[in-house]
Amino acid sequence: MTAVKISRDYVQALHDRLDIEDVVSSYVSLKRTGRSLKGLCPFHNEKTPSFTVYPETKSFYCFGCQASGDIISFTMRMENLDYVEAVKQLAARAGMPLPEEGFDDSLSKLRMRILSANREAAKFYNAQLFAPQNSEALDYFRERGLTKQTITHFGLGYAPPGWNLLTDHLKSLGYSEHELVLADLAKRGRNNSVYDAFRNRVIYPIIDLRGNVVAFGARVTDDSKPKYLNTSDTPVYKKGNGVFALNFAKNSSEKKLVLVEGYMDVIALHQAGITNAVACLGTAFTTEQANLLSRYADEIYICYDNDGAGKKATARALSVLDKTGLRIKVVTMEGGKDADEIIRKYGKERFLSLLGKSGNEIEYKLNSLLSEHNVTTDDGKVKYLTAAADVLAGCQPIDRDIYASRLAKEFGVSKESLSEQIKYAQSRLRKQYFAEKKKAVNKAATDVFEGRNNPERKANLKAANAEETLIASFMRNPDFYRKLKDEFSPDDYVTQFNKRIITLLIELIEGGFSTDLSMFAQEFTPAEMDTVGKIARKGDTLANTLNECRDCIKILKGLKDGGVVDVRSMSDEEYLRAFEKLRKKKPTE
Ligand code: UTP
Ligand code: MN
Repeated sequence: MTAVKISRDYVQALHDRLDIEDVVSSYVSLKRTGRSLKGLCPFHNEKTPSFTVYPETKSFYCFGCQASGDIISFTMRMENLDYVEAVKQLAARAGMPLPEEGFDDSLSKLRMRILSANREAAKFYNAQLFAPQNSEALDYFRERGLTKQTITHFGLGYAPPGWNLLTDHLKSLGYSEHELVLADLAKRGRNNSVYDAFRNRVIYPIIDLRGNVVAFGARVTDDSKPKYLNTSDTPVYKKGNGVFALNFAKNSSEKKLVLVEGYMDVIALHQAGITNAVACLGTAFTTEQANLLSRYADEIYICYDNDGAGKKATARALSVLDKTGLRIKVVTMEGGKDADEIIRKYGKERFLSLLGKSGNEIEYKLNSLLSEHNVTTDDGKVKYLTAAADVLAGCQPIDRDIYASRLAKEFGVSKESLSEQIKYAQSRLRKQYFAEKKKAVNKAATDVFEGRNNPERKANLKAANAEETLIASFMRNPDFYRKLKDEFSPDDYVTQFNKRIITLLIELIEGGFSTDLSMFAQEFTPAEMDTVGKIARKGDTLANTLNECRDCIKILKGLKDGGVVDVRSMSDEEYLRAFEKLRKKKPTE
């Protein structure tokens, strides 16, 4: 169990001050339905809202992916913060001063060290780029058309070929080898020695919204492989969350972002004065990145490379961006392989005119389909229109009407028959969507309850159920615990995970604290909170009576003593264990 970092009194006070609706609303748009609020889940990709916020218990739960937790664990997840950092942020929001002492902020301190090492590394790389002996590196950027001003603006750099240049430099500044390895600036090799992670590569620093250097991309200056090395996940950086140049682009007044594939695309566009260009780093466009973009833009122009990989990436980005409510345009990089090339070959105006010519998502999809079918034959035409109907089935009604009319005219079919086809596609897609959703929900539910956090659960179903019922009941009715406390002990618990929960719960009740989920977030990770939250929600379907609790205690005691309790509801393993215990008992009796 992790150590208590911030006093419970403080967490309780913070919990009392915060309004979950207010906190969550800054990330998710919520609609009230009765006593709860609903919105699109920020933790998984969905089109119909499953994410539910319960103001009364200040908790959230997603029926889709089974994410669950409280205000603090929500903030930890959304902002990729540790517990202390999340509490600090929420405290500032609630206008509460942080307690001076009594919390362990070692992780925050480590992050500060890594960020400052990164900053020093960026300075070092930048200085190397301008060192006379490394003129070839500078030539590389010059040949790609970058001005000195641009290089400085982006803090570009160069890691020379040596094995220890950066490491030695940072060590002389007082950073330990351990810190450098954690920052992924250095790697640990044989004999425990460390060496520079990036060698003989030009360097692109990745800077977050607060101006911190969080990671680096490092490119070869020739055709060798791999083309790029990137900082892997560290305490200050998660690859799937990174957006390159958002620190500059967020200031653009228009609330439009131009999304391109590579570092050089971004840099070339900024140099040309198109300063709202960003690139999402990592292999697949993620929900986190989409959420981040949607905070700074209403409209996104996707300008991915004009090749197979770019098309694939576009499709992926569309499917993730679909749910953000952003207006999306897809731009074809006509006349070049990517944005960088277009800017260099034809200049800014040409790129802007491509933006102007861009189609919305529907036009893009219809055009892609068109290029895949030979519509000069009747057979090809039918196949194209059938596929097009699938696209239109997923659109807003007005779009559907406009594009259906357009297609009908263009291909000489009646609008009625096309509409008929679309209706058919709609019902098929709807069925498919709900079937997939149901499957995903079932899988997530099993995952949260079984395996992920409580690996002993599956083999101890009967016990675990009793354990969880007690937890859920005591959370709702701390009085039940006070009445029953002499009849059971946490030592009766079979599964270690549930034992951690009940132990903390008892501490909270004995200490006079609330038993809301917020009081658990300090000792359980956000991922563990999914299961804690799920157990808390069991309270909705329980009888919530003292007798129900007594039955659970009987089950736990019974299993412990080897007495067989209701064999039918035991797992095979539980049954065998109980049977074994009974068998061993016999001779002594
Ligand atoms: P590209 O191969 O299109 O590279 O990858 P690029 O950025 O346009 O590079 P130039 O123009 O050849 O200099 C697009 C993005 O994919 C990631 C990088 O973020 C890159 O900017 N990538 C690519 C990697 O992380 N590793 C690789 O090996 C290749
Ligand atoms: Mn490229």
